[in-house]
Amino acid sequence: MNRENFGSKLGAILAAAGSAVGLGNVWRFPIETGQNGGAAFIIIYIMCIITLGLPIMISEFLIGRYTHSNTAGAYRILSDGSPWKWVGRMGVFTGWFILCYYAVVGGWTMHYTFLSLTNAFAGVPATQFGQIFEDFTANPWIPSLWFILFIGITHFIITRGVQSGIERFSKIMMPTLFIITLLLTFCSLSLPGAADGIEFLLKPDWSKVNSTVVLAAVGQAFYSLSLGMGCLCTYASYFDEKTPLAKTATHVAIIDTFIAVMAGFIIFPSMFNIGMNPNEVGAGAGLAFVSLPNVFQQALSGSPLLAILFSTLFYFLLFVAALTSAMSLHEVATAYITEEFNLSRRKGTLIITGTVLILGLLCSLSFGPLSGIQLFGRNIFSLFDDFSGMVLLPLGGMLISIFAGWRLDRQLYRNEISNGGDLRTPYFKALIFSLRYIAPLAIGLVFLDQQGAFNFLKH
Ligand code: PHE
Repeated sequence: MNRENFGSKLGAILAAAGSAVGLGNVWRFPIETGQNGGAAFIIIYIMCIITLGLPIMISEFLIGRYTHSNTAGAYRILSDGSPWKWVGRMGVFTGWFILCYYAVVGGWTMHYTFLSLTNAFAGVPATQFGQIFEDFTANPWIPSLWFILFIGITHFIITRGVQSGIERFSKIMMPTLFIITLLLTFCSLSLPGAADGIEFLLKPDWSKVNSTVVLAAVGQAFYSLSLGMGCLCTYASYFDEKTPLAKTATHVAIIDTFIAVMAGFIIFPSMFNIGMNPNEVGAGAGLAFVSLPNVFQQALSGSPLLAILFSTLFYFLLFVAALTSAMSLHEVATAYITEEFNLSRRKGTLIITGTVLILGLLCSLSFGPLSGIQLFGRNIFSLFDDFSGMVLLPLGGMLISIFAGWRLDRQLYRNEISNGGDLRTPYFKALIFSLRYIAPLAIGLVFLDQQGAFNFLKH
């Protein structure tokens, strides 16, 4: 079958960075950093990226590029008929599964962009923002329509293919995201009180660092780099033989970390400006859709126009970040179904979009009409969110590192990362060591921690 490749190295980096930079960078990293020791957390986070994020990312790149196949095909080719082929299938399933709820949040970012643009937050009392968000998500129509629009845009890009879809749009959207980030950072840093925000984010406090904090850093590094499923493997299957895998992975990790730290520079100065205590704010949707619209409104109340602009750009930034991640999730499933079942891209994309539409609508409606459907005390949306984040991703990550460290042929590994001997690979031994021992152990501990296995230590 004739397969497309990315047309340039830059396109490959931007597409992979687009997958990595997502909601996690904005609504989780800054809060986790601020509350867990500032610069101390950032240092631990960067160490996690180097010791386990990069080895796994390089391995996922390698598996994709070597086989030039969708994720299920890639692991099948490399597993010689053994059950390891299931790791690839699981990676495809995880991508598709995450997309179902991730795209719902993508829709929320569009709605909030629209609300900001139409100045709907002006004059709203601080206590009302929670209610606004609840009313919105409980509405049977509005969030569902935004979700459909969001998945429609993702569909439109994916159906156009690798070069004129994913690559072309990544090349437009990633620089846009970068410029907006810098603009918002600049604006937030010029607010009175900004210094306190920077101090909160950056002041190292090693006394806060304990095993739970380290595990949080591992988990965040992992999620933020889109590891443990099929995204990076699928994108790497479109890399050409000259793409340097370790260097590309390093670039992606640097971009991802940079945007995450900048998000902190956007959020905290404005929070301190209005006297809000970030230690009392939780990460996630509550931060992005309840605390922040209020923060922006109040911090910039002196200039209504600036408030509109700032808030609109912020939600547009979230939208772009979510969209480029959603593209990578969609592509995992689309590449799988088109290649394994010999369908045209048009048909394959349609089938994936159709299935995501159905399940995504269930997720979307689970805050309103379907809120009565609960399992383990969670609504449908949270089931999707938690099952993927707490089970599928850690399990996938652990299996991938064991597969790459113990099962893949060493010669093949070395040959691939050196591009057939062209590049030096002084880090090779350390990389294999991490894949064999450090990564599986660290991810295993995160997994157990998330299941509450260490709760008895926390009292
Ligand atoms: N890395 C994305 C983020 O930071 C989330 C994501 C995870 C996207 C896994 C794709 C796959 O939000």
